[in-house]
Amino acid sequence: MAADTRAKAVTLDLRRRLLSSSCRLFFPEDPVKIIRGQGQYLYDEQGREYLDCINNVAHVGHCHPTVVQAAHEQNLVLNTNSRYLHDNIVDYAQRLSETLPEQLSVFYFLNSGSEANDLALRLARQYTGHQDVVVLDHAYHGHLSSLIDISPYKFRNLGGQKEWVHVAPLPDTYRGPYREDHPNPAEAYANEVKHVISSAQEKGRKIAAFFAESLPSVSGQIIPPAGYFSQVAEHIRRAGGLFVADEIQVGFGRIGKHFWAFQLEGEDFVPDIVTMGKSIGNGHPVACMATTQAVSRAFEATGVEYFNTFGGNPVSCAVGLAVLDVLKTEQLQAHATNVGSFLLEHLSQQKAKHPIIGDVRGTGLFIGVDLIKDETLRTPATEEAEYLVSRLKENYILLSTDGPGRNILKFKPPMCFSVDNAQHVVAKLDDILTDMEEKVRSCETLRIKHPPGQQDDTHLTDKTSV
Ligand SMILES: Cc1ncc(COP(=O)(O)O)c(C=O)c1O
Repeated sequence: MAADTRAKAVTLDLRRRLLSSSCRLFFPEDPVKIIRGQGQYLYDEQGREYLDCINNVAHVGHCHPTVVQAAHEQNLVLNTNSRYLHDNIVDYAQRLSETLPEQLSVFYFLNSGSEANDLALRLARQYTGHQDVVVLDHAYHGHLSSLIDISPYKFRNLGGQKEWVHVAPLPDTYRGPYREDHPNPAEAYANEVKHVISSAQEKGRKIAAFFAESLPSVSGQIIPPAGYFSQVAEHIRRAGGLFVADEIQVGFGRIGKHFWAFQLEGEDFVPDIVTMGKSIGNGHPVACMATTQAVSRAFEATGVEYFNTFGGNPVSCAVGLAVLDVLKTEQLQAHATNVGSFLLEHLSQQKAKHPIIGDVRGTGLFIGVDLIKDETLRTPATEEAEYLVSRLKENYILLSTDGPGRNILKFKPPMCFSVDNAQHVVAKLDDILTDMEEKVRSCETLRIKHPPGQQDDTHLTDKTSV
């Protein structure tokens, strides 16, 4: 077993020596050493309990006993690749298919969200015979080379945009070009995609796919206007491309009303490919890509085998099945609706009280709080957001920020997050905001305390959220 009694400073020193500094820590000014997790709580080496408001990977709760037991029992019997017949993989595909529209009936199993999106890209290119991709601004779809290329969140800080990538504006009705006062923002934003497609076609480019998170989370917990994705799908399909719904952060009941976030678009809306990751395995590395028979057949027609050493192994599938079981037996989707509504309502009350809160939006346990410096321009309150998150951490509450201005507080806790937890976070948020307002009135600067000699890298913008 790895040592868990080492002093925090020693661990930090070892990490600095042995790991790349591009693997960032949360709270670099004073990182937290976590040695245990249970439900919605994390515990540090001194036994202090932190409320986890950000881990959407520990979907049904950290170290859920049913999931841990399922992995353990399967590990005792067999773990091998998917080239032998085994019931777990077919049972799991069957159970996932029950959650999806019937057209999405072929499943590929992988180890990470990035792998799922990379395979989606391969399938889309194979099916359409086209190469190009349309993505939303500020999106992140994974860390593989192919996905950095379609992630403006990353490539804007790197070599720039490839000629086969086309970026459409984020359908953000709070800060984007078409806002809450626009008569038809869904159509206006979808027309932007249409325009992006036409411009690409004028240059002789051909569109293979449109990739988007069903609710853009990395870009700041955005709720696209209803009808937007259906219209985008029409434009993309007319150009011969496929619609890929990235459900890696937002799937598996998180949004409360539906099991999948793309279902917010209505019963008739069916993406051509859906990618799943993170929450699917509650921390175990599992991922999945679901698609139609037609798309899969085009991929099969190459005659080239799809082999993934770990993807779909009996242990991963046992874990995936256990996550689905827990979601059902603990009714966590309905729970997300109830707790999420409560949290949204109470955060909205805070908006009425604190002018720094410009917008509160979300559904289920997917919630964003947009912090602004001024009401007219809605300038992102980046430093204030960072300060707030650091003060919450001092109060043993873990929250993160996201969005291009890193000013959106992102709530995406394990699904067992309770009404009491929500009440507690809102009360602390209220206290800290009141205190911040006091400080601003008395002209004190908001500064995060950095231990002497420690570098401040909190200005870095491309901290990939989890
Ligand atoms: C929306 C989205 N897609 C894809 C990925 C990539 O998943 P992974 O880190 O499991 O490769 C992430 C990870 O943060 C993500 O947020």
